[in-house]
Amino acid sequence: MRQPLVMANWKMNGNSAANRELLKALQAEFARRGAEVSTKTSVICPPYPYLTQVAEMLQGSSMQLGAQDCSHSAPGAYTGEVAAPMLADLGCRWVVIGHSERRQYHQESDALVAAKLVAAQRADLMPVVCVGETLEQREAGEAEDVVASQLRGALADLPDLREVVVAYEPVWAIGTGQTATPELAQEMHSQIRDVLRELDENNAEGIRLLYGGSVKADNAASLFAMTDIDGALVGGASLDAEAFATIVAAA
Ligand code: PGA
Repeated sequence: MRQPLVMANWKMNGNSAANRELLKALQAEFARRGAEVSTKTSVICPPYPYLTQVAEMLQGSSMQLGAQDCSHSAPGAYTGEVAAPMLADLGCRWVVIGHSERRQYHQESDALVAAKLVAAQRADLMPVVCVGETLEQREAGEAEDVVASQLRGALADLPDLREVVVAYEPVWAIGTGQTATPELAQEMHSQIRDVLRELDENNAEGIRLLYGGSVKADNAASLFAMTDIDGALVGGASLDAEAFATIVAAA
């Protein structure tokens, strides 16, 4: 049985005052909804400078802390980077790796993503590795091959797949309002699980597969009804307390 998981990816949004408001509103929503949300695993991933603020405010709550990226390297001479053990030190238990915005704007390769996964696991963080095709790749009929190859590349250096989460985020669905239909998402998730079975037969069934890309309060339940959709990575809607709590409740 895979435990539902919903992650809030705040991306590069927020400031101290706005975060405080959002977290207070989230806590009120969570208190009002009780077990409906507290029994699900929910994770808030703010920008690096606010990790401590969010960690402090989440104390005593069922929500956990995550980061949006980490360095592939151990601490050392990498100006501007943040090492995985630093994130763990600040209270993170989760880290998103290989988001399409990192791949697109920072030229992150599958090899770099693979190294980041290893670094995250070494620091006892649970890596959430993102894969997904662009619109051009989908239209060219390459979606499955692209995702399978990203997956194989990203997972290449892990000894086993016990401690990893995979997020399928079709690039054309991110921030566009263009959600994949539950059927399309399920089809890809089921193929992802086939690839995972080839890589690690013993652990493939237990790996959580999240869907991401314009997940909203009103489409979450139909996505979560699919066999291989175990939760969501939520961008825009995670900046709205009621919407995020509704998505967690639907998981
Ligand atoms: P979105 O972003 O929900 O705003 O589409 C999802 C993501 O990029 O993780």
